[in-house]
Amino acid sequence: MCGIVGYVGPKQATPILMEALRRMEYRGYDSAGIAVLNNGGIEIHKAAGKLSVLAGELEGREPVGTTGMGHTRWATHGAPTTVNAHPHLDQSGRIALIHNGIIENSTAIKKALLARGHVFLSETDTEVLAHLIGELYEGNLEEAVAAALRDVDGAYGIVVLSADEPGTLIAARNGSPIVLGLGEGENLVASDQSALLDHTRSVVYLDNGEMAVLSANSYRVRTLTTRQIDKPVNQIEWDLATIERGGFDHFMLKEIFEQPESIENTMRGHLLEETGNVRVYGLKLSDTDAKKVKRIIITACGTSWHSALIGKSMIEELARIPTDVEYASEFRYRNPIVDSETLVIAISQSGETADTLAALLEAKQRGARVLGLVNVVGSTISREVHGGMYLRCGPEIGVASTKAFTSQVVALAMVTLRFARLRTMSLLEGRRYIDALQQLPAQIQQVLDCAPEIEKLASRFDGATNALYLGRGVNFPVALEGALKLKEISYIHAEGYPAAEMKHGPIALIDENMPVVVVAPRDAVHGKIVSNIQEVRARGGKVIAIVNKNDEEISRLAEATFIVPETLDLLTPILTVIPLQLLSYYVAVNRGCNVDQPRNLAKSVTVE
Ligand code: F6R
Repeated sequence: MCGIVGYVGPKQATPILMEALRRMEYRGYDSAGIAVLNNGGIEIHKAAGKLSVLAGELEGREPVGTTGMGHTRWATHGAPTTVNAHPHLDQSGRIALIHNGIIENSTAIKKALLARGHVFLSETDTEVLAHLIGELYEGNLEEAVAAALRDVDGAYGIVVLSADEPGTLIAARNGSPIVLGLGEGENLVASDQSALLDHTRSVVYLDNGEMAVLSANSYRVRTLTTRQIDKPVNQIEWDLATIERGGFDHFMLKEIFEQPESIENTMRGHLLEETGNVRVYGLKLSDTDAKKVKRIIITACGTSWHSALIGKSMIEELARIPTDVEYASEFRYRNPIVDSETLVIAISQSGETADTLAALLEAKQRGARVLGLVNVVGSTISREVHGGMYLRCGPEIGVASTKAFTSQVVALAMVTLRFARLRTMSLLEGRRYIDALQQLPAQIQQVLDCAPEIEKLASRFDGATNALYLGRGVNFPVALEGALKLKEISYIHAEGYPAAEMKHGPIALIDENMPVVVVAPRDAVHGKIVSNIQEVRARGGKVIAIVNKNDEEISRLAEATFIVPETLDLLTPILTVIPLQLLSYYVAVNRGCNVDQPRNLAKSVTVE
C-alpha cells in the first residue's frame, strides 16, 4: 500500500527519494509526490499515476535541497488525483506532511478548522492533519506534531517537515509501519525496509504511539507525551540482490522459481529426523501448554486464508484438534467464542494486514494465546503475537502471493507435527512426514522444470472470460488459490469450487468456452473427482487436470494434463499449487497484463 520515505543529510534529497519510492513500487499505488526544503521554502511536486509520470514532471527542474520526503499514495479518501496526492501543506504553506493510514475523526477536525478559516485544497484526511499541526505550531515542530496526534483517532504512519526547521524530520506511527534507517552523517525514515537498503542496514522500528525526531547526525525516539525512550537498533538481513529480479521477466516468476529454496529456508533448523518431530523455539509453546489447547482458530486474508484452510485439514486429520478458519475481517466483528484454551494462529506474509492484525488483537484481548506465521521480520503482527514462526521465504515483491503460500503451508505442516506428536502421531509416522517434507524442494524443482508445458497450456485461456477451478479435500483450497491467482493478475473471472459442489449451481456455466482446471492428485478422494470430471465432460467442458504420473483414467477424460510428483496426501497442495501459479502467470503475460502490479491491488493492505 502507500509508501513513505524521508531523507536528511548532506546529499541531494530528490534522487534519493525517487529511488526509494521506486523500491516501494511493488506495494501498489496510484499517485506520487515529493517535498524538498529549498531556499527557505518547501518545493512540492506531485503527479497522479505511476512514478514515471512524476519523474517526467521533475525532468530538468529537480528541487535542490538536502532534506525531503516522498510518498506513493493508494487512494482511500478522495480520488487518485494530483491534488489529492501527498505531500500536503498546512494553511501557512510552511509545514508539509505525508501519511499512510486513515484519520478516522478527520471530518470533525476539518469542520472545526473550517470554522476557524482554514481552506482545504484536497479531499484528503491527510491535509486535515497537516492543517491541525500547522495550527498548533508555535516554533517547535516536534511538539506541534505530538499535540496534533493526541487529538487524532485512527491509523497513521507520517513524516512531517517545516521550512522553519530545516534539517529536521519528524516521524510518527500508530498502526502503519515506520522504520528509521540510520546512516553515516545522514538518516532516513520509511514505511518499508526496502526503501532504506541502498543507504543502511541499521534500522529502528517504531511501535504504535511512538515518534522520532531525525537530523543528519542524530535521532531520538519518544512517545506523544515523553521526550525520549530507548529503542534497540536492528540489522536488516535482506540485501538488494534479493529484492531485484535476478534475470526473470517479473518478480512473480522469480518468486515462483524460488520455491524449492524458499520452503527449504522455512524448514531449516526445525526438522528433527531422529524423533520425527519439529523444534520451533519461536512458538514458545511448552509440551504442557500445547497439550492444553482444546481448539484452534486460524485467521488470515486472501491467499493466507487459503493456506489456513489447508492447515485446518492437517491439524484436524493429524492432531485431532478442532480447528476453525476465519476471515480476519469477519472475525473481529462477530463476537467470536475464544477463551484461554483456544489457540489463535494469525497468518500473514506482510505482517501488516490491518484486518489480520485487528483479529489477533481481538483474540488476545479475549484471553487467547496468539501465534503468528509471518514473513516480514519486525512487522507489526510479528511483534504483537505471543510466539510464532518466521516463514523466511525472503521478500515477496510481486503483488500476487506465491512463495509465501507454499512457505505458509510448510509452516502449518510443522505446527501440525508439533501438536500431532504430542497426541496421536507415532514416531514412525512422524519420521514419514519429516521425510516427505524434506523431499518437497526437489519435487517442486521437478514441477518447475516442466514450466514450458504450462506455458503451452496457457493458450487454452485465449478468449476466455471465465474459468472454473475444482478440487476436493485438501486440494479444494488449492482450487480457490488457483482461481484467485488467475483473477487478480489476468482479470479473467474465475471461481474455485469443491468439485462435487459444482453440480449444485456452477455446472450451469460449463460450456466449450470455459476452461475447467481440476486439481486431482491420486489421493483418498481420487475416485470421486474422476466422477466430477465426467460430469464436466458430459456438458462439453474442457478439462485441464493436475494429476500424478500414470493417471490413465483422468488422462483419457481430460483435454490436457500436467503431472506433479507424489507425496503424502496432506502435503499435495505444496506441489499442486505450483502449476496453477505458473498457469495464471503465463495467461496474464499473454494478455499483456501488469503481472507484478495488477490494477487496484496493493501488496500490503494496511487499511480495514
Ligand atoms: C493474493 C494476495 C492477497 C494476500 C492478502 C493477505 O495473491 O497476495 O490475497 O494474501 O492480502 O496478505 P498478507 O498475507 O500479507 O496478510
